[in-house]
Amino acid sequence: MPVITNIDDLKRLHKKRTPKMFYDYCESGAWTEQTFRENVSDFDKIRLRQRVAVDMEGRSTATKMIGQDVAMPVALAPVGLTGMQRADGEIKAAKAAEKFGVPFTLSTMSICSIEEVAKHTTKPFWFQLYVMRDQQFLENIIERAKKAKCSALVLTLDLQILGQRHKDLKNGLVVPIKPKLGNLLNLSTKWQWGLEMLQTKNKSFGNIVGHAKGVNNLGSLFSWTAEQFDPRLDWDKIKRIKEMWGGPLILKGVLDEEDARRAADVGADAIIVSNHGGRQLDGALSSIRMLEPIVKAVGDQTEVHIDSGIRSGQDVLKAMAMGAKGAYIGRAYIYGLGAMGEAGVTKALEVIHKEMDITMALCGRKHIEDVDRDVVLVPEDFEGRWA
Ligand SMILES: Cc1cc2nc3c(=O)[nH]c(=O)nc-3n(C[C@H](O)[C@H](O)[C@H](O)COP(=O)(O)O)c2cc1C
Repeated sequence: MPVITNIDDLKRLHKKRTPKMFYDYCESGAWTEQTFRENVSDFDKIRLRQRVAVDMEGRSTATKMIGQDVAMPVALAPVGLTGMQRADGEIKAAKAAEKFGVPFTLSTMSICSIEEVAKHTTKPFWFQLYVMRDQQFLENIIERAKKAKCSALVLTLDLQILGQRHKDLKNGLVVPIKPKLGNLLNLSTKWQWGLEMLQTKNKSFGNIVGHAKGVNNLGSLFSWTAEQFDPRLDWDKIKRIKEMWGGPLILKGVLDEEDARRAADVGADAIIVSNHGGRQLDGALSSIRMLEPIVKAVGDQTEVHIDSGIRSGQDVLKAMAMGAKGAYIGRAYIYGLGAMGEAGVTKALEVIHKEMDITMALCGRKHIEDVDRDVVLVPEDFEGRWA
């Protein structure tokens, strides 16, 4: 096994071992990719305060997210098509998360279905919902998530209209899928990926095929998907979904103080400060820049979580110091999955945990819950003066 010391090592292996069209699907942002880049580079602007002569024995990163025990305040974000990065990718990632003691969030647009993931895991996972026009499908998928004992519903708000990623269009990763000749040739060189894919039955959108009316084959799946994201989603509908679900609700994709207050008012158990990893509104501010204003806006009305741009345990620690109660990793675990399957996801979690633990100690804190604003040095103009 290659020596893996950081998330970038996993990213290099992911690139080498996964068909280009799927690596590109992961490693891209909308349009100019400004927000995608700044999600990462803005974390670098924040520095840490070195502290010494503090007893550092018996440290712990264990805490709670929405009242649920976690080994560290990190969850796996919902990522569509995870089962194309590696065969049965969602099952592999869910198993790694379960063993590590952190939440796994299954995307509506996953390859493995809710039921498949439930069959291969023993603890509840979280389910991410995209609101579709088809009301029957919507009610049914919420019921399926309940039946599978999912312990939180993550409702994504920032993708009712699809952003554009140039690489996907150039690779033909569009609906319906039209891979270019170059992509097909590239695919034929990824033999390990191909062999694993040949051995699984999970090759399409498992939550949709056979569950949405009239969607029984690839052709009907593509036309259904293209039309279904419901652009009419509003706060009233969010309230109705909350009632339908009846369990812990996390609202994902909040990047504005006013929206954060609305989300708290509808009774969300948590909100995720997120710009979808820079895949939607290019030109939006990075999540880490918006974190403190949003924490201030909602006070203790709801828990504030964050994603977008987290590539290390230091990033997680910075977010905790600035008021987040949880952080999600998207690409960081997908790199691990594409690199080495379940072992790679475990490696990504181990890397992040170790970085967080050592950083916490060197900053003079023994417990993740003691990490506060004093741990970080944030440039005075970090939030920026925007009018
Ligand atoms: C390849 C890819 C697919 C994604 N698919 C979904 C999805 O199906 N549902 C969703 O809510 N978010 C989705 N996201 C967004 C992630 O949940 C998360 O917000 C984002 O990855 C965080 O940024 P990071 O990758 O920089 O950590 C996706 C992200 C990526 C990279």
